[in-house]
Amino acid sequence: MTITRLEIDAARIGVLCGGTSPERPGSLASGQAATQALTDAGLKAEMIDLAEVPVTDLAGQIDLALLALHGLGGEDGKIQGTLDTLGIPYTGSGVLASALGMYKPTFKTLLKAHGIDTPAWTVLGAAQSVASAVARVEQQISDWPIFFKPCSGGGSLVAGIAHDRADLESLLSAARSEPYEQYMVEEYIDGMPCTVGVLEIDGDLTTLPVLGVETQRDFYDYEAKHDLSQRTEHCPAPLPATQLQEMRATALNVHRLLGAHGVSRVDFMAGEGRTAVLEINTIPGLSVKGNLAAMSRAAGISYPEMVRHVLRTATTKPAYVP
Ligand SMILES: Nc1ncnc2c1ncn2[C@@H]1O[C@H](COP(=O)(O)OP(=O)(O)O)[C@@H](O)[C@H]1O
Ligand SMILES: [Mg+2]
Repeated sequence: MTITRLEIDAARIGVLCGGTSPERPGSLASGQAATQALTDAGLKAEMIDLAEVPVTDLAGQIDLALLALHGLGGEDGKIQGTLDTLGIPYTGSGVLASALGMYKPTFKTLLKAHGIDTPAWTVLGAAQSVASAVARVEQQISDWPIFFKPCSGGGSLVAGIAHDRADLESLLSAARSEPYEQYMVEEYIDGMPCTVGVLEIDGDLTTLPVLGVETQRDFYDYEAKHDLSQRTEHCPAPLPATQLQEMRATALNVHRLLGAHGVSRVDFMAGEGRTAVLEINTIPGLSVKGNLAAMSRAAGISYPEMVRHVLRTATTKPAYVP
């Protein structure tokens, strides 16, 4: 089922958020802020926590879904496929791009095939022995330190830097009690964590100014993401104009390469002489203090306008998206 731009004003909009993903808190913040912005604009929006309402109950209850879900089960194509089956139009990417964006190893394979720089990596099972993990790292990654993270994670959860075998051992053992089954280690890139928002505005896919983060912490970790006093954001990032341009062009490329729709955020590590893509977020955080809102502001787009642009992506999707 499709919905036109005109029909949005009368539509019953469900802002889907929460659920049981490890990224539930961020998702609730996204959902609350987006619902508020839509109701303030006079639209019929309702915040729906998928931990309380099964998605299959939404058939006939809403005309349109604004997705504010992050992480496993929400950003990975599963909800998207269910909504497709139920005939409920939704914002952002379809099943394929969502799933590819969620699983970092396949996403990175795609980047590599297209000559886009991404840190070298290898995949580890949660139950992998330390000895075989170390052997893999030493074979496939040029040197320590390395960066450890879940293959399908987000929010910097269960991630960290390992300077040596002992660090990797403690990261692996902490990971065993987490809900992720696969982890990856990456070549460590020294530089500034940066992100670029991609947003469809009046039918045109545009990039927002690059946002760069400085933090005193070891990396842009969970604490730095959730506590403003632990980070300083710059938008645009204080980097050479050519590097900023390169990141914006690459973000657009990556969004298109994946077949993402309407909105995304591509994360980078920007070092001297190296600009490497880390990941794509097909449902970027939508909170008022989030990266997408900050980048939009720098482009002269207010928060309510940004939410409206995201909402419209539900009306511009091709009839069939795999
Ligand atoms: N290969 C790497 N080298 C250095 N730092 C990294 C690397 N990968 C991730 N990081 C750090 O971890 C943060 C989160 O990584 P990212 O791949 O974006 O995962 P998430 O899905 O958790 O956001 C980055 O912003 C950066 O600070
Ligand atoms: Mg990230």
